[in-house]
Amino acid sequence: MKTLLLTWWTGYIGSHNAVLFLEQWYDVIIFDNLSNSDKNVLKSIEKITGKTPKFYQWDLRNLWDIEKVFSENDIDSVIHFAGLKSVWESCDMPQEYYENNIIGTMNLTKIMEKYDCKDIIFSSSATVYEPNQVPPFSETTHVGNTTNPYGTSKFIIENILRDLATHKDFHVVNLRYFNPIWAHTSGLIWEKPNDIPNNLLPYILKVASWELSTLSIYGNDYNTIDWTWLRDYIHVSDLATGHFESYKWMNKNMHNSWFFEVFNLWTWEWTSVLKMLEIAKNITWKSIPHQIKKRRNGDIASAYCNPQKAEKVLWWKSQKTVKEAIADSWKFITIGSK
Ligand code: WQD
Repeated sequence: MKTLLLTWWTGYIGSHNAVLFLEQWYDVIIFDNLSNSDKNVLKSIEKITGKTPKFYQWDLRNLWDIEKVFSENDIDSVIHFAGLKSVWESCDMPQEYYENNIIGTMNLTKIMEKYDCKDIIFSSSATVYEPNQVPPFSETTHVGNTTNPYGTSKFIIENILRDLATHKDFHVVNLRYFNPIWAHTSGLIWEKPNDIPNNLLPYILKVASWELSTLSIYGNDYNTIDWTWLRDYIHVSDLATGHFESYKWMNKNMHNSWFFEVFNLWTWEWTSVLKMLEIAKNITWKSIPHQIKKRRNGDIASAYCNPQKAEKVLWWKSQKTVKEAIADSWKFITIGSK
């Protein structure tokens, strides 16, 4: 039985992967500092799968925490989600992003090498693609010249992992995606950040459920179909299957002494901010008050990627629509959180 270590700070992409791997009878160990997630998600995972993953509420910035997890468990692979993840927040607190994301990853890979665990799937980001290039970006599109500390941290980590692959025989699968939206189809797992949500959909639905009063729309003067930014929102369940197919691909290619393989996980579907609001209103039957505010610092332009390589090599294709993701998330709010 293979044992996977899932490092997750956001909690919700990782939790969806934990459910999927547990359902496929893998041993899953979760390592999280709960900086922006809720321990109740473990109860939801148990409710969905009937299994309870081992959980360590520790921090990747503490080398000893990681050493203890590896010394107590025979870990075969790591799926590394852990990292602070808000583009605009990173502009306000760059050092925290570099410390959490980069130092945390360096600590993790140091201990992995010590315990001869060299197989890692990394949750990277489309923010590494060089700005001002014409989308859709493929995996060979230029990367670098990142425009925010979050994107810079992901870019630096990709280079660390590429070097570990080339010079230390690590097997690395590097997944680039952008706007995950969720909840689990059971309605039992959703992002429940410990404070005001940074992201669009959680904010919209907190306004719909009267937890927050008004949605601020950051800028309606962009050169797009309705003057608000376009994003390719991907259902977190599709991301989970993308990680699972990547894991199977990684294990089929272990005969290679090392590799650093990049895949874009995207849907091709476009949705603007105003369109998200309109879909949410139709699904929730709520008015969802909103106001136009000035542009948000660090927001990147509409960017989208070409997922054909993942479709061809991983036999993975996104299945769910934005509407289904919003409906699943609303289900969480109306039933799951009770
Ligand atoms: C989407 C759009 C906002 C909130 C995402 C992920 C992040 C990272 C990068 C992977 C933007 C607008 C938002 C609000 C708004 N993922 N918005 N009012 O910034 O694209 O970041 O990609 O690397 O983890 O979240 O996502 O949901 O914050 O914003 O108008 O209250 O919605 O300006 O145009 P973003 P987001």
